Amino acid sequence: MKSTDTLMHEHRIIEKMLNVLSNYSIKLEQNKRVQPAQLRACVDFIRMFADTCHHHKEEGVLFAEMESHGMPTNGGPVGVMLAEHEMGRNYVKGMAKAIDDYENGVANADKEFVRNAQGYVGLLSQHINKEDNILYPMAEQMLSDMDDGLMERFAEVEKKLGEGVHEKYENIVSQLEKDSSS
Ligand SMILES: [Fe+2]
Ligand SMILES: [Fe+2]
Repeated sequence: MKSTDTLMHEHRIIEKMLNVLSNYSIKLEQNKRVQPAQLRACVDFIRMFADTCHHHKEEGVLFAEMESHGMPTNGGPVGVMLAEHEMGRNYVKGMAKAIDDYENGVANADKEFVRNAQGYVGLLSQHINKEDNILYPMAEQMLSDMDDGLMERFAEVEKKLGEGVHEKYENIVSQLEKDSSS
């Protein structure tokens, strides 16, 4: 198993969350009530699984390794990926704020959630596409001889996250998929 295979598998799980966000956005646009707890679970998943687990494997391990092989992180394709992670974090902040407002009955909070959620979905789907098709193939060419070391460092990221946490979030996204499409 290559390090990029692990990351691509995580992309498939993150894409499930993008579906969940799209489903909830459609409900809110149809003026249907969505439980704030379900929306919070989406934000929690993104912060823990997408950002703390997946993006840290990229930023702290894969991209860092590419940089040490001569790929600039300040600009260039890796720089673009880092900037997009940061843009994603801003959308997630917007979603979290909108959920608080939604729960407190603030006018248009549902629209604000949808705006941020759709922004996040659009950003992440093209981001994942670029990584799968451009950036990871570049990494595979640059780093073929040292992949084992990367897998060990991924394991350290998982360990910091906690035992079973990765699996817990895989289950959560499946439950949210069911709830959001019912
Ligand atoms: Fe990324
Ligand atoms: Fe990624």
